[in-house]
Amino acid sequence: MAHAAKRLIVYYLTSTKKMIELKNIERYYPTGSQKTYVLRYVNAHIAEGEFVSIMGPSGSGKSTLLHILGMLDEPTDGEFWFLGEAVHKFNERRRTEMYREYIGFVFQAYHLIDDLTVYENLETPLLYKKVPSAERKNRIADLLDRFNMVAKKGLVPKSTFRRPATTRRRSKGFNWSPETDFGR
Ligand SMILES: Nc1ncnc2c1ncn2[C@@H]1O[C@H](COP(=O)(O)OP(=O)(O)OP(=O)(O)O)[C@@H](O)[C@H]1O
Ligand SMILES: [Mg+2]
Repeated sequence: MAHAAKRLIVYYLTSTKKMIELKNIERYYPTGSQKTYVLRYVNAHIAEGEFVSIMGPSGSGKSTLLHILGMLDEPTDGEFWFLGEAVHKFNERRRTEMYREYIGFVFQAYHLIDDLTVYENLETPLLYKKVPSAERKNRIADLLDRFNMVAKKGLVPKSTFRRPATTRRRSKGFNWSPETDFGR
């Protein structure tokens, strides 16, 4: 009984592990001698495994916030903690390392390389991550299978089909097995 209770507590702690913490995030653009704030007083906690939507009218700063969360951009002020690490204090090199390790983006626009085949497009992020060859082959085979694209793997994006564009983007975005997936 005592053992069961212990396991329950461990599960509770694991399932509410804090992944993202934002403290007074600000992002402004200088306009002449003034500052135009796109984000201000943004505070949030996001736990591991949480599924979060960011909603707001056009121009309200959704993409700006996603770029900060995805470590592609920096806040002009405030704190961004990711898995207990102070991202706001990182230099660009460290931020890129974290990005490669943990972040996945599912882009709204095309972010495929036209000259590469579907297979090569899937392989590119894994090459950047220095995933060994055998593991790359396995992961790509799994993805192609999961998205019913085995027969299309040798085709270049332009010559492939229209409808599965989203599927191709998805499989590319999810390819890194990242901790955090951002759709935009
Ligand atoms: N480089 C920049 N310089 C000045 N203002 C900018 C710059 N980039 C974005 N903005 C402004 O920041 C505001 C927020 O833009 P953002 O793209 O984050 O909005 P959004 O909520 O994603 O909008 P949408 O729903 O249209 O995608 C907009 O008013 C935009 O004009
Ligand atoms: Mg946007």
